Amino acid sequence: MCGIIAYVGPKDATPVLMEGLARLEYRGYDSAGMAVVGTGGLKVRKAKGRVRDLAEGLPRRFKGSPGIGHTRWATHGAPSDVNAHPHLDGSGQVAVVHNGIIENAAVLRSRLERQGVQLVSETDSEVLAHLVALADGADLEESVAVALAHVEGTYGVAVLDQRQPDRVLVACNGSPLVLGVGEHEMLAASDVAALVRHTRQVVHLDDGEMAVLTADGYRTSTLDRRPTSKRPMLVEERAEAYAKDGHPHYLHKEILEQPAVVSRTLSGRLDERFHTAHLGGLGLEARDVAALRRVKILGCGSAYYAGMLGAGMIESLARIPADAEPASEYRYRNPVVEADTLYVAVSQSGETFDTIAAVRELKRKGARVLGVVNVVGSTVARECDGGIYLHAGPEVSVASTKTFTATAVAFGLLALFLARIRDLGPADGKRIVDGLRALPGQIDEALGVDRDVAAVATTYAERQSILFVGRVRGYPVALEGAQKLKEISYVHAEAYPASELKHGPLALVGPEVPTVAVVPDDHLLDKNLSTIAEITARGGPVIAVGHRRELPGATCVWTVPKNEPELDPVLLGLPLQLFAYHLAAALGRDIDRPRNLAKSVTVE
Ligand code: AGP
Repeated sequence: MCGIIAYVGPKDATPVLMEGLARLEYRGYDSAGMAVVGTGGLKVRKAKGRVRDLAEGLPRRFKGSPGIGHTRWATHGAPSDVNAHPHLDGSGQVAVVHNGIIENAAVLRSRLERQGVQLVSETDSEVLAHLVALADGADLEESVAVALAHVEGTYGVAVLDQRQPDRVLVACNGSPLVLGVGEHEMLAASDVAALVRHTRQVVHLDDGEMAVLTADGYRTSTLDRRPTSKRPMLVEERAEAYAKDGHPHYLHKEILEQPAVVSRTLSGRLDERFHTAHLGGLGLEARDVAALRRVKILGCGSAYYAGMLGAGMIESLARIPADAEPASEYRYRNPVVEADTLYVAVSQSGETFDTIAAVRELKRKGARVLGVVNVVGSTVARECDGGIYLHAGPEVSVASTKTFTATAVAFGLLALFLARIRDLGPADGKRIVDGLRALPGQIDEALGVDRDVAAVATTYAERQSILFVGRVRGYPVALEGAQKLKEISYVHAEAYPASELKHGPLALVGPEVPTVAVVPDDHLLDKNLSTIAEITARGGPVIAVGHRRELPGATCVWTVPKNEPELDPVLLGLPLQLFAYHLAAALGRDIDRPRNLAKSVTVE
């Protein structure tokens, strides 16, 4: 969703901001803008459309420092030049960029209008610029603190005042901001992706914190101006991790790099001696695990589906009742929070608003919450009691692929860890350790179907609707397969447990509606073959993914290597990622930035 970049230092801020905005594009946006303090004061440019539209409209003399930039994903007010950020106060001295939602914007707008202020945009964010200017503090810090005291809602903000041209002020509450500490320069961004080209030394601001950035460094404080102390940390990602490496889309790169990703997720975590997993970040003692009665996993979208896979692994290996639930629904049903339940929040970005809200609700009720997170230092990671980092590297494409797989693998590790403290014996522990160790090589093999999948996907590209079915462990695989397809191709796709077909969706089946069936070679094989027969009897084409080279009735079969039954879903999902990718490519879709979607959903 919206992105922020800010710079103060000896360089001209304009190219730094422009490059930062390009790095933020993957989050999803519909307009962009920037402001710099140059000779003659504040200069502002903004434009509906892409960052390149903004770049094309910039005059040569658009130079200066400090500067702030923004990519906007419209919430209050349509995408337009005037609604794009930065917003200015009436005198044009203060410029503000804002992520988040100001919930009392209507009240603040009327109050400002009664004071004679003319608001020019439809946004909630514009009030901030006027409030900062009217606060008229002794310095920018004070003005911003006074302004934010009026605001209810969530924000990450960056503020410039041309009368104090040596600084940028940033603050956050419920919308992330990260400071980048450079050599005689400072940056800030909503996402480390926009910083790593300049520095890997970062400081994560906490909610209710602000920072004054100058070329010489930073000073942090609470919003009521009590100083805080924050040390920089080194981020894993290097700028090269954001390159496309010759692939036509980030999504293709991210699908194909999964062998290396899973190697990193597993690295140093397999205990060959005791046939368990080393997960030092969990902070769980054996007696805590022994006392567990339940595991509840929360996440949104693909993170939720990966959580469903994880619940299956935990239940079958550790024999602890486990289930997954959409984090977006959780807090609204006043959930019963139990002391002997382990809660696990799953989030690639660690910044999904609904997942953060679920974590906070749980913490408020005294629960122990672990995070399964990719982005180091993100809000979910910071607010959980412990957890597992995926080490998947940055995922740029909006659709999750490598982090879905890495999350499933992280759950394999967690299930093994819990299981070996509970009832799983060493022989079964070794079976799972061996299975996990085999995954990177098997993923590489499974992705060998790339060309076959591309050919089949092109054949089905014009279909209006595609069904996905799977049984038990295969059902989350089907859900994620359907999710990938609809997200990036815009083809309608629905997933059902194969056992539910006769209870309704079979009515949809016919020659025009293909079904993708997840058919592992397990104890449910016969039942899955019956499902295929039911579909083909009604003229429906079936594409199967499984372990056998041929399956009766299936038009084609994509074969993946066989692992242990508990880990098989990790591999079965891979051809479905490729299917979504190639079908979307055949339709000429904007694969890395599908319409209406954002990488990180930081608002409700
Ligand atoms: C999946 O392809 C989407 N990107 C989406 O469903 C995503 O998984 C969801 O929004 C949760 O994001 P998170 O993992 O960053 O919390």
